[in-house]
Amino acid sequence: MTKILVCNPSYYQISYEINPWMSIDNQSNKNLAKDQWFHLVDKLKEAGANVVEMSGESNLPDMVFTANAGLVLPNKKVILAKFKHRERQPERIFYKNWFQNNGYEILEDPYPENTSWEGAGDALYQDNILYLGYGFRSDYEAISNENWKNLGFEKVFYMNLKDPYYYHLDTCFCPLPNKYALINTNAFDEHVVKSLSQVINLLPVAKNEAEKFACNAVSIENTVIIPSGCSNTKEMLMNVGFQVYETDMSEFMKSGGACKCLTLKI
Ligand code: ARG
Repeated sequence: MTKILVCNPSYYQISYEINPWMSIDNQSNKNLAKDQWFHLVDKLKEAGANVVEMSGESNLPDMVFTANAGLVLPNKKVILAKFKHRERQPERIFYKNWFQNNGYEILEDPYPENTSWEGAGDALYQDNILYLGYGFRSDYEAISNENWKNLGFEKVFYMNLKDPYYYHLDTCFCPLPNKYALINTNAFDEHVVKSLSQVINLLPVAKNEAEKFACNAVSIENTVIIPSGCSNTKEMLMNVGFQVYETDMSEFMKSGGACKCLTLKI
């Protein structure tokens, strides 16, 4: 059973600007954000996930985006993130405590101390292939060492991000079961797209749906949960055999995140 960690949204709001989607003048609606978060959790459960909830911390509004806590490997081992921006750096200790209290083993940071690396926002795996994004929040220097090649994955892909609106890998790429992946091809250099297309079937999303975070999807077995308003993406997924659930993420998109960012597979 897929186990997913989420963080209660009670302290969620837009209190600083660390990506181009965020503007303190475009504040999220507290009640609507809560409703959307609970709706997402319902959909995750409906798709068959075991959803585990941790509590948030006041003054850490982005803790709700558990994808950035770290990367959880199949054997309950965790690589903790090291946040680039000062605003999110205090999150690390709370995530660390949660993992320790819940029986996970924290691995020694595989990245050099002076680098940043933002967890499953920039590290995705599926079918024994590890995809590592870098360029905005995660440094190439953080992932360009042998440690990452020794985690037991068959293949490691390095994916340079080039559009500041798609600053985490999970905002523009989503590997899925059966060797499929949603992708916003505009967020990568051509050679990255080309080499990916040699190993998986790429499902390129339209620009207007990429902007609605179509790639920020969560897959649970044969079900894919995507933000609402992405009808072409939905159809594309259904055509290759996935069941698709939609969920409104407007209040979280104001912070530069959606379904996937709010979850962490543990
Ligand atoms: N406001 C958050 C940030 O800028 C959003 C994080 C979204 N997370 C993700 N995995 N893409 O850090």
